[in-house]
Amino acid sequence: MILSIIVAVSDNGVIGRGGGLPWSLPKEMAYFRQTTVGHPIIMGRKTHESIGKVLPDRLNVVVTREKGYKAAPGCTVVNSFEAALALPEIRNSEEVFIIGGESINQQALAFADKLYLTKVHARVQGDKFFNYNRDDWREIWSEKHVSDEENKYDFEFTILERRKIGKNG
Ligand SMILES: NC(=O)c1ccc[n+]([C@@H]2O[C@H](COP(=O)([O-])OP(=O)(O)OC[C@H]3O[C@@H](n4cnc5c(N)ncnc54)[C@H](OP(=O)(O)O)[C@@H]3O)[C@@H](O)[C@H]2O)c1
Repeated sequence: MILSIIVAVSDNGVIGRGGGLPWSLPKEMAYFRQTTVGHPIIMGRKTHESIGKVLPDRLNVVVTREKGYKAAPGCTVVNSFEAALALPEIRNSEEVFIIGGESINQQALAFADKLYLTKVHARVQGDKFFNYNRDDWREIWSEKHVSDEENKYDFEFTILERRKIGKNG
């Protein structure tokens, strides 16, 4: 199983503000959908509540410490990050996506094989961040997009793989 994190990050490291996203980037949302459809997604309870519904055509796993938490219909609830990874549907998947937010991303970072990192070229105010050690990762693909009427900021899709210890690149 490949464990991937998918996250959109501003130039100053911000991923969230006031429980939601600090931007509206429909092209980025479409990329997120296209990338994750058909694969299980794992998210923190707060991210689930900010989405407010099950995301279709994907197993939605919501992580919370609250026993008996009622997520939106169609979601699978677990009480730890380890329990999410132990689900048979997760273990038997080719690729699984961690979709946030800050707390789940940081817990997943040590185990993740790939990062689908969208670099949002803006400096924005926020209260949730994504910090990773760039030296641990190698960019294997990128695609630039310029701002337009609906997408206010320039952004760049990138995919990074974890560098193998003892290997160059
Ligand atoms: N830019 C992006 O790509 C992106 C993507 C997703 C989200 N976001 C943003 O990120 C923000 C949310 O991030 P966040 O860090 O506040 O919340 P979060 O990671 O979405 O959810 C945190 C919650 O998950 C549960 N949790 C976390 N670790 C757990 C563990 N080990 N075991 C059991 N439960 C665990 C807890 O729920 P309980 O409190 O219920 O126990 C915790 O309060 C929002 O602003 C959102 O819009 C941004």
